[in-house]
Amino acid sequence: MSEATGSLFDMVRSYDQFVLDLELVRSHFPAFDNGKEPRFFENAGGSFACRETSDALQRFYTDTKVQPYAAYPASARAGELMDASHNRWAQALGVAVSEVMFGPSTSMNTYVLAQAFGQRLGSGDEVIVTNQDHEANTGATRRMAERCGATVREWSVDSVTGELHIANLEALLSGKTRLVVFPHCSNIVGAENDVAAICGLARSAGAHTIVDGVSYAPHGFVDVGALGADAYLFSMYKTYSVHQGLMVLRNELAEWLPNQSHHFNADRVRLRMIPAGPDHAQVAAAGAVLDYVEATTPGFVGDVRGACEAAKTAWQAHEASLLQPVLRWLDDRSDVRIIGPTEATAGLHRCPTIAFVSERICSAQIAAEMVELGVMANNGNFYAPRLLEATGVDINDGVVRLSWVHYTSLADIEFLIGALEQALG
Ligand SMILES: Cc1ncc(COP(=O)(O)O)c(C=O)c1O
Repeated sequence: MSEATGSLFDMVRSYDQFVLDLELVRSHFPAFDNGKEPRFFENAGGSFACRETSDALQRFYTDTKVQPYAAYPASARAGELMDASHNRWAQALGVAVSEVMFGPSTSMNTYVLAQAFGQRLGSGDEVIVTNQDHEANTGATRRMAERCGATVREWSVDSVTGELHIANLEALLSGKTRLVVFPHCSNIVGAENDVAAICGLARSAGAHTIVDGVSYAPHGFVDVGALGADAYLFSMYKTYSVHQGLMVLRNELAEWLPNQSHHFNADRVRLRMIPAGPDHAQVAAAGAVLDYVEATTPGFVGDVRGACEAAKTAWQAHEASLLQPVLRWLDDRSDVRIIGPTEATAGLHRCPTIAFVSERICSAQIAAEMVELGVMANNGNFYAPRLLEATGVDINDGVVRLSWVHYTSLADIEFLIGALEQALG
C-alpha cells in the first residue's frame, strides 16, 4: 500500500461517528463464521443473509411447512408468523399493516403496479420516468404508457455525473402528470435522491409516485410514511433477508388502483396487488432481519422503527468512513472515471456503490483481474443500460461496480485498494 493510502486510513480510524459494533454485526452473519474473510464487493447485487433470516427459514421448513391459516396448530402458527412479518415491517417502515405487501421480486411488483396504472391512465395523461433507474422500475411503466396511450416524459440524468437534478423534474411536471417513477438511489451512481422533496413536488402537481428503494434499503430502512411516497419498493435479498420483494402501497393509491388478483380477492388489501401466491416460508422469515437490527443496536430503547433509525445512523456513518478512501483513491487517478458523485451531497447519503471505467483497460478485464486477486466484484450494465448510454459508457463492457454495506470492514477496504492497485497498474 502506498504512503498516501496509509494516511487516508488514519483518517478513517479517527472518524468520530464510528459507533457501529462491527464484531457484533459480523457475528450475526454465517458468511463470516470461523474467521472467514470473504472480500465481497457485489452487495448491490445481493447481500449476505443474517443468521436470524436463515434460522427463521429453517424453523419454518422444519416446524410449520404446511398450508397456513387453518385451525390445526402447525397451520395456525404458520399464519401467525406470516402476520407477524407484516406487522413488524409496517412498524419498521412507519405505515399501516394493510400497506405492506410481499411479492416474488421488485421486478414483479413494479410490473403488476404498471398493469394496474395502465387500466387507470389514457391519452392526455403523462407519466414521468428517469433514465437513472434499474430497468425494473421504469421498463414496465414505459410499456404500460405505450399501450394505454399516455405520454412518457423522461427526467434525464446529468450526462457527466449521472445525477438527477430536481430543477429538470420541475420543468416536466404539469397538470397532466399522473405518475412520477424514480429511484431513491441508483444501483450505479450511488447518490441518494431527495425522495421527500420529489414526492412533495409530484403531489402538488396531482401525481402519484413510485419509488424504487432497492439500492437504498441495504443502507437504511426508512420511514416511508414520512417520506410521502405512494409506493416504495425494495428487494429483501439485498437487505440481509429472503429472496422476495417488499412493496409498500399506501392505502389511498391501493384503493384507487384496480384489483390485479383473483376477483374474490378484490377486498383483501394484502392480496389485491399480489397476484402470485405468497411464498409462505419467506413471508414468515421476512421479519427476522428486524430482530437482527434490534440485536445489533444494543442499548437502544424504543420500538422497531427507532431501532431502524439507530441502525441507519450507525450503518451510514460506518459506510461513509469506508467510502472516502476508495473514492479518493480512484478519483486521484487521471485514467479512471467514476460514474457518480465523488463526494456526498450535503444532507443526502452517498451509498457505497462505486461504478467506474478506465481509459486504458476494459471493465471486463479489470473485473476478471480483481476476481483473480480474491475480490468478489463484477462488471456490466447491471440492468441500467439507459443510464450508461446517457453517460457515454459502452453498455456491453459496462462499468466495474464495487459495492459494500455496513458489515464490510476496514481490512476489506484495504484489501480492495491493494487489488485495485494491481488491476489498474
Ligand atoms: C435498483 C434496482 N431496482 C430494482 C431491481 C430489481 O429487483 P428484483 O431482483 O427484486 O426484481 C434491482 C435488482 O438488482 C435493482 O438493483
